[in-house]
Amino acid sequence: MSQNDAAAVPILEARGVRKSFGPVQALRNVSLRLYPGEVLGMVGNNGAGKSTLIKILTGFHSPDAGELFLSGKAVNFRSPDEARMHGIETVYQDLGLINDLPVFRNMFLRREHMRRFLGVLPVLDDRRMRKETQDYLRKLRIEIPSVKADVGLLSGGQRQAIAVARSIYMHPNVLILDEPLAAMGAREGRMILDLVLELKRNYHTAILLIAHNYAQVFEVCDRINWLTRGEISFDKSVSDTSVDELTRMVMADYMESSG
Ligand SMILES: Nc1ncnc2c1ncn2[C@@H]1O[C@H](COP(=O)(O)OP(=O)(O)OP(=O)(O)O)[C@@H](O)[C@H]1O
Ligand SMILES: [Mg+2]
Repeated sequence: MSQNDAAAVPILEARGVRKSFGPVQALRNVSLRLYPGEVLGMVGNNGAGKSTLIKILTGFHSPDAGELFLSGKAVNFRSPDEARMHGIETVYQDLGLINDLPVFRNMFLRREHMRRFLGVLPVLDDRRMRKETQDYLRKLRIEIPSVKADVGLLSGGQRQAIAVARSIYMHPNVLILDEPLAAMGAREGRMILDLVLELKRNYHTAILLIAHNYAQVFEVCDRINWLTRGEISFDKSVSDTSVDELTRMVMADYMESSG
């Protein structure tokens, strides 16, 4: 499905979003559409407002103006948990993991498996969460010393892999990834890209991917949006553009803003 399919209703849509932080106008007037089953790449320079936009889409920040729609219905998420309950999973650039909890507890954060102690008292079912985390990470070929290790002790790339693994565990309808490849080695980065392709293919998940590496963006995305100076000024399907065109555009923008 693509933006050109007039009958398609976006699974997630933003209209006229504005957001300022004190004197900094991070988003001026952003409208964005994410369609079911597509991978939308969001590119833009540092500070362009990409992370701010996804934090608004997922209820982390509230917009100063503008509206959000989920499958055509107006929504107003008050927290990332509320967005999650509506099938939107997000890997934030700053990850959202709890460093002093072990890997397996992070995997099941706020949806822990419980069991009954002595048949009555509800307690955390750590054994089950450890086992499921272990099996799952093995399946994804994510290597960490132990699921019992506190997340804060892992490397940056390992933490990133855990955050991505957690976000896809529930097979969300919408997956938002804010620079999931930034701290990744080549092998791990490849694995994340393969996961994205697999989710799209097998689960028809709509994915919004923020990344700086255009080659990777072109490999997995169907469409590309370019955010600059708080606005989306470019929206094309990958077949209508190229790494070269994007690079030229970004350079022209740079020359204009510096000169
Ligand atoms: N919580 C905040 N308080 C104040 N200013 C903020 C806050 N979050 C973002 N900003 C500002 O808003 C602007 C956009 O930041 P944002 O993090 O959205 O950029 P980005 O496109 O994600 O950049 P990067 O590629 O470096 O991750 C920046 O000028 C930033 O300093
Ligand atoms: Mg960012």
